[in-house]
Amino acid sequence: MPLFTLQLETPRLLLREFQNSDKVAFAAYRSDPEIAKYQTWDTPYSEAQAAAFIESLQHLTPGILGEWYQLAIELKSTGQMIGDCAFCILAEDGKQAEIGFTLARKYQGNGYATEAVTCLLNYLFIHLNLHRVRSNCDSQNIASIKLLERVGMRVEGCFIKSLWFKNNWVDEMWFAILQDEFEPKNPRLI
Ligand SMILES: CC(C)(COP(=O)(O)OP(=O)(O)OC[C@H]1O[C@@H](n2cnc3c(N)ncnc32)[C@H](O)[C@@H]1OP(=O)(O)O)[C@@H](O)C(=O)NCCC(=O)NCCS
Repeated sequence: MPLFTLQLETPRLLLREFQNSDKVAFAAYRSDPEIAKYQTWDTPYSEAQAAAFIESLQHLTPGILGEWYQLAIELKSTGQMIGDCAFCILAEDGKQAEIGFTLARKYQGNGYATEAVTCLLNYLFIHLNLHRVRSNCDSQNIASIKLLERVGMRVEGCFIKSLWFKNNWVDEMWFAILQDEFEPKNPRLI
């Protein structure tokens, strides 16, 4: 059992720990080739894989240095689980984190990811008092680049053909934001 669990709330979303019942929605969007294109898993992604992944999360405690912690994103109006986001506080100094995010295709284009990531940044900077948050993505992943820029993250570098990924060398773009730079543009998002 984790030492404590984490739940964050925005006007439209709950960022909560995964439940066993999330396996159907989770397997469905992870099986979408468009969603998996820039992510580490392959499609199809079975409900058995989803169940095993969710089970592995249930033993984790948020904020353990060097360990990714994944939160389900739930739409408050319907109770539907629509995606997930994750963070890992870097073990080197305990003051920096890396984040990641995924939204089911059906729920994209509504600002939900912006709302979830802004809320996550707020948690990392305000509640955990971290110094810096970073994220990376493939230079072809335009939706992800636009999202990172929308939440105020800066491009710090683009490493050309630096990653062997799904049978290709791909360019990795790195983004970051400092605590000093973080100012939620819309306080309703947190
Ligand atoms: C990256 C990802 C989460 C972005 O999702 P998204 O839906 O584009 O992002 P948001 O939910 O913030 O929605 C923003 C879009 O909704 C629009 N929008 C509508 N209502 C909005 C609102 N109330 N607030 C903000 N934006 C709104 C925005 O204009 C924007 O549209 P645009 O891209 O055409 O300009 C999604 O593409 C994804 O899951 N991709 C697959 C997984 C992946 O690659 N993850 C990243 C790995 S590094």
